[in-house]
Amino acid sequence: MSMRNPAYGGPVRLTQPSPGFGLGLRTTHYADFLAAPQRVDWLEIISDNYLVPGGKPLRMLDAIRERYPMAMHGVALSIGSVAGPDRAYLKQLRQLIERVQPLWVSDHLCWTGVHGRQLHDLMPLPYTDEALDVVVRNVQQVQDALGRRLVLENVSSYVNFKQSHMSEWDFVAAVCEQADCLLLLDVNNIYVSSVNHGFDALAYLNSMPAHRVQQIHLAGHSHNGDHIIDTHDHPVSEPVWSLYEHACRRFGHVATMIERDDHIPPLSDLINELNHARDVAVGAWREAA
Ligand SMILES: [Fe+2]
Repeated sequence: MSMRNPAYGGPVRLTQPSPGFGLGLRTTHYADFLAAPQRVDWLEIISDNYLVPGGKPLRMLDAIRERYPMAMHGVALSIGSVAGPDRAYLKQLRQLIERVQPLWVSDHLCWTGVHGRQLHDLMPLPYTDEALDVVVRNVQQVQDALGRRLVLENVSSYVNFKQSHMSEWDFVAAVCEQADCLLLLDVNNIYVSSVNHGFDALAYLNSMPAHRVQQIHLAGHSHNGDHIIDTHDHPVSEPVWSLYEHACRRFGHVATMIERDDHIPPLSDLINELNHARDVAVGAWREAA
């Protein structure tokens, strides 16, 4: 008999407790984080920016790490590659894990290259049994190498593979269950893809395994009339706030952070946006209680 979580009736959570509300650490805000305490509970770093030994990036990282808990978020694991995980990359990640002692380690449910070539883009996978087997095998290898559950993020997409024979949400849920990994739910990515492909974003959210949702991403996008691009250069949009509210009702206290990668505003603007996320979440939790 499986144990149930009395809080929401589902299986017991496999995730780390939520550290609260965070931001992505960007170089433009290094000085702010070092100058004074900020109303940010934790920071997410892009692991790939700190893999080269020595130099200023690691010095800044160490200094800011003394002040804030951090999660590591990668962009180059290419968990969907048939070639399997790159051993040298995993070794670099292990060294960074040793240094940062992160809350958790995440990357994207996608592929980013083949035969040693990096595309520097998060490419969607075909949602097939074959791709599922590849991803599950790769996740298990990465988890063995890192000695921890991996957290995988759903990506946004603009095209579909005609070979796909299951929905994206069924594929994501199957990866989590079969590989025994955790989920970084990017609510903006769900919204972007739901508009681009014409699916129901709420059905997607409702299909996610709540006991495996470790983290939520919020971000802005660019609306181009008949399609949306996941640009991370705007504040979070109203439809994404509503989806986030629904996610908070469904998943409870899950660590949330806002990603901004272009047109990065002053830190105080992002903290105001993060305070709005707190308000939305607290309201939703109260309603769900
Ligand atoms: Fe994201």
